Amino acid sequence: METKTLSNGVEMPMLGYGVYQIAPAEVQHCVRDALEVGYRSIDTAQAYQNEEGVGRAIAESNIPREELFVTSKIWITSSGYEKAAASIDESLQKLGLSYLDLMLIHQPFGDVYGTWRAMEEAYEAGKLKAIGVSNFYADRLIDLCTFARIPPMVDQVELHVYHQQNELRKYAEKYHVAVESWGPFAEGRNNFFNDPLLKEFGSRHKNRSNAQIGLRFLLQEGIIVIPKSTHRDRMEENFNVFDFQLSEGEMATLRSLDSEESQFFNHEDPETVEWFMNMVKPKPDPNETEAQKQDSSED
Ligand SMILES: NC(=O)c1ccc[n+]([C@@H]2O[C@H](COP(=O)([O-])OP(=O)(O)OC[C@H]3O[C@@H](n4cnc5c(N)ncnc54)[C@H](OP(=O)(O)O)[C@@H]3O)[C@@H](O)[C@H]2O)c1
Repeated sequence: METKTLSNGVEMPMLGYGVYQIAPAEVQHCVRDALEVGYRSIDTAQAYQNEEGVGRAIAESNIPREELFVTSKIWITSSGYEKAAASIDESLQKLGLSYLDLMLIHQPFGDVYGTWRAMEEAYEAGKLKAIGVSNFYADRLIDLCTFARIPPMVDQVELHVYHQQNELRKYAEKYHVAVESWGPFAEGRNNFFNDPLLKEFGSRHKNRSNAQIGLRFLLQEGIIVIPKSTHRDRMEENFNVFDFQLSEGEMATLRSLDSEESQFFNHEDPETVEWFMNMVKPKPDPNETEAQKQDSSED
């Protein structure tokens, strides 16, 4: 497997397996299939609520730990130094691992610097081999790279042919941050799996699928990819992308598909930010009396 050398020298596989939206009951057999197919990098998150199942699949595989690369992400509800530190230990415990290869801040919200300090400490304690962020655009990434004691090594963002993140990539390179794609197929949006241009290029390369052309494009751009599928035949298809090469002309044409817009949501859009905030906003205490409410409103 090709790897990318992170800024701290850690080797990260260029292709891994993502488990977003895989139900806890299904994830163990999906990760088992992925490991059998040959994937060695697994991308989960506290918010996916499937770390335990990922851990069980890893344990039963008997693959030596050093051959695996396991990533998780700290969710906004664990933002801040104490909560983040506790959540790192909880992720390790759920995954049944003594260290994670990579831990990311999942979203650029909340007490990012408190969370980051907890991650720096866990990194120095050997619990995390690399640390990074997710959904940080250039502005937030530059800020963290400038003020953090240990700069982030990875930024995982929405990245596919229709949203190529050129501005972020320019600054990530400048600050030595590896860029990782989430949603390499845009989850099928914008007719990805039937896109006629991808189909045409696929027909030129022994009938490669749109999924394979999309992944190959990102890999040749130096982007780490973590496609998700619950189907073993698709896992195999998505894994078999290292035995052909897109030409420079094909790459240039695919670069022109960039709409510079998200297929999902923009983390700088106030409505999106409020949507995230509503997830973590303190809920009113149903046991609080009217008098207590009155008291606290006068504080
Ligand atoms: N950091 C973040 O905020 C963030 C956000 C989203 C995702 N992620 C990570 O990135 C990973 C990948 O992104 P994603 O899961 O959102 O989307 P994705 O990989 O772009 O697309 C997954 C979708 O494509 C289908 N699919 C996969 N391979 C296919 C193929 N060869 N042919 C046809 N359909 C295929 C899957 O269906 P089936 O499963 O039915 O095959 C699924 O519906 C996630 O699993 C997660 O680990 C991170």
